[in-house]
Amino acid sequence: MPIIPDRLLHDLEHQGWTVSDDIIPAELAHRLLTEGKHRWETGLFHPARIGRSLMQQRNTDIRGDTICWLEDTDPHPACIDFQHWFNELQTLLNRYFFLGLKRLECHYARYGSGAGYARHIDQHRDTSYRKISMVLYLNDSWQAGDGGELCIYDPAGPDTEIARIAPLMGRLALFRADTIPHAVLPCQRARWSLTGWFRTDDDNL
Ligand code: OGA
Ligand code: MN
Repeated sequence: MPIIPDRLLHDLEHQGWTVSDDIIPAELAHRLLTEGKHRWETGLFHPARIGRSLMQQRNTDIRGDTICWLEDTDPHPACIDFQHWFNELQTLLNRYFFLGLKRLECHYARYGSGAGYARHIDQHRDTSYRKISMVLYLNDSWQAGDGGELCIYDPAGPDTEIARIAPLMGRLALFRADTIPHAVLPCQRARWSLTGWFRTDDDNL
């Protein structure tokens, strides 16, 4: 079971977002990065789109990452371990928040140099299945000048920035998918992560 300090659950409940540097095993984060790079080199990533299903758009001015979805049946040992880990996290979140989360949809994301993601909210406009967003950052020796921070904005006044989170190796951000405006600032070098959404349904809508 991941040990989630009470602080994280408290922050998630009261401010809608939280960050931790030590709830995922460091060796697992490194194995996930190695496998992500391998998939990238094998050509398994594709440009990300905005919106869902038929209405999807590609617009690199808004969103510049390329992604590779993880299937529930992914046989790679690091992916299986990650799945066990986030299933336990899901159990904890359900126990604490009574959300009825059923699964995590999750993909690798790679932002090339210069790419970012403009301010947005993760829950799709016409559906409410995505409840909690999760980003696991996978960048070794990220420096201050490398950019690529996750910016969190005030839900009550989205022009006000309230936090800037560097995408450091093993760092995990959790935030509400329905209320928290956020953005990825342009990065100066390739930026790797696993990004996912805990959902209340079984479908990939
Ligand atoms: C997203 C997103 C944040 C990050 O993929 O929707 O907002 O820090 N990612 O990568
Ligand atoms: Mn987002």
